[in-house]
Amino acid sequence: MQYFKFTKDNIEISPLGFGCMRFPVIDNNLSNIDEKKSEEMIRFAIDNGINYFDTAYNYHSGSSEIFLGKVLKNGLRDKIYLASKNPVWLVEEYSDFERLLDEQLERLQTDHIDFYLLHSLYNKTYKKIIDLDVFKFLDDAKKKGKIKYAGFSFHDELPLFKTIVDAYDWDFCQIQLNYMDRNMQAGLDGLEYAYSKGLGVIIMEPIKGGKLANASEEVEKVWSESKVKRSPAEWALRWVLNHKEVSIVLSGMSTLDQVKENIRIANSKLHNSLTKDELGFIDRVTDIYNKRVKVGCTSCEYCQPCPFNVSIPDIFEMYNNMYIYDTVEQSKKSYEKLKESLKDVSQCTECGVCENICPQHLEIISLLKESEKELI
Ligand SMILES: NC(=O)c1ccc[n+]([C@@H]2O[C@H](COP(=O)([O-])OP(=O)(O)OC[C@H]3O[C@@H](n4cnc5c(N)ncnc54)[C@H](OP(=O)(O)O)[C@@H]3O)[C@@H](O)[C@H]2O)c1
Repeated sequence: MQYFKFTKDNIEISPLGFGCMRFPVIDNNLSNIDEKKSEEMIRFAIDNGINYFDTAYNYHSGSSEIFLGKVLKNGLRDKIYLASKNPVWLVEEYSDFERLLDEQLERLQTDHIDFYLLHSLYNKTYKKIIDLDVFKFLDDAKKKGKIKYAGFSFHDELPLFKTIVDAYDWDFCQIQLNYMDRNMQAGLDGLEYAYSKGLGVIIMEPIKGGKLANASEEVEKVWSESKVKRSPAEWALRWVLNHKEVSIVLSGMSTLDQVKENIRIANSKLHNSLTKDELGFIDRVTDIYNKRVKVGCTSCEYCQPCPFNVSIPDIFEMYNNMYIYDTVEQSKKSYEKLKESLKDVSQCTECGVCENICPQHLEIISLLKESEKELI
C-alpha cells in the first residue's frame, strides 16, 4: 500500500479509509451487522495496508462502534488509526461532550481515539456547540490523551465551511465530494480552501453512497469509449483521488470484493493521474445524471430509524432510480413490498425528526409525498 503524509505530524495514512457505515447486515436490519463477513473484510483490509477506519456514534444504529471495538481488541487496534465522531445533535450541555466521548471509548474498547470529529456540522449544530464552548472540550480531550487529532465533518454551505475552518486550529476535516457533487456543500472550493489552510482533507461519499456504482445504458456507452476499462465505482473513486488536495477517500464497503477492488485502486497512481479525455468522459456522465436526479438523498441513513418506521432512503432511492436508471416496474414492485411491511409514506405523521437531522437538508416530508405519487 502507498501512504500519504497526513496532519502536521506527517503520519502515514492509506489513501483509502474504511468507512464503517455500510457493513453487510443480516435480514436487512441495519443494527444487525453480519459480523463474520464484516470481520473478514476488516482483517483483509488491514492485512493489505488499510490503516484508517472511520466510524461514528450512530452508524448501524450504534452497533458499528461496538462491533469495531470487539474486532480491534484482538491485536488489531495498534495497527490502525481509529476515527470516530461526537454526535453533537445529542449534546445539550458542556458535560455531554465528554460523557459521549467516554461512552465511545468504552464501546470501542480503547483508551484513545486517534481522529475525533464533531459530527455533521451545519448552521444549527455549529451555533449550539460554539455556545457550549466546544473548543475548550477538544483542547481538554487532547490534553487528557483521549483524542489525538481534532476535526469536523460538514454538511452545509461553503461560507459556513470557511468560517468553521478559520475558527479553530483543526488538524483535519471531512467533506462530501464526488463528481456529481462538485458544487454541493463545501464542494471543490471548500476542498481547496481547507487544503490552503493546512488541514488534511478526508472525503466521504465518493461513490455517492453507491449510486455511481451502477450505470444505465446511456452511461455505459460513455465509459465504453475509454481505452482503459474501469468499473463505474472505479471511475468515481479515481475522480476524487485525482485531486492533490485529497488525503483520504473513505469508502463504505459492503462486500469483500469491493474491499479488494478499492484496495487495488488505492495502490495505483492517484493524484493528477486522469487524462484530459478521461476527465471528459466523467463530465459527460455527470451531465447525463444531472438531468435525471429527482431527490438528492445519499442514503447516509441519518434519518433512520424513523419513529414511525418510514424507510425514507429506500423510498427516495426507488423514486430516483425510476428516473436515473429507468427502473419503473422494479421501483413500483419494491414500493409495494415496502407497503406490506408498513414502511411506506402512509406511515409518516410529519413529525419532522428526519428533516432536523438530514445532512442534505432535504424537505423530506413533501418529497416523500411527491415520491409516493409516482411509486403507486
Ligand atoms: N461524517 C458524516 O457526516 C458522514 C456522512 C456520510 C458518510 N460518512 C463516512 O464516509 C464513509 C464513506 O461514505 P459512503 O459509505 O457513503 O461511501 P461511498 O463509497 O460513496 O458509498 C458506499 C457504497 O458504494 C458502493 N461501493 C463501494 N465500493 C464499491 C465498489 N468497488 N464497487 C461497487 N460498489 C461499491 C457500495 O454500495 P452497495 O452497498 O449498494 O453495494 C457501498 O455501500 C462512510 O462509510 C462513513 O464512514 C460520514
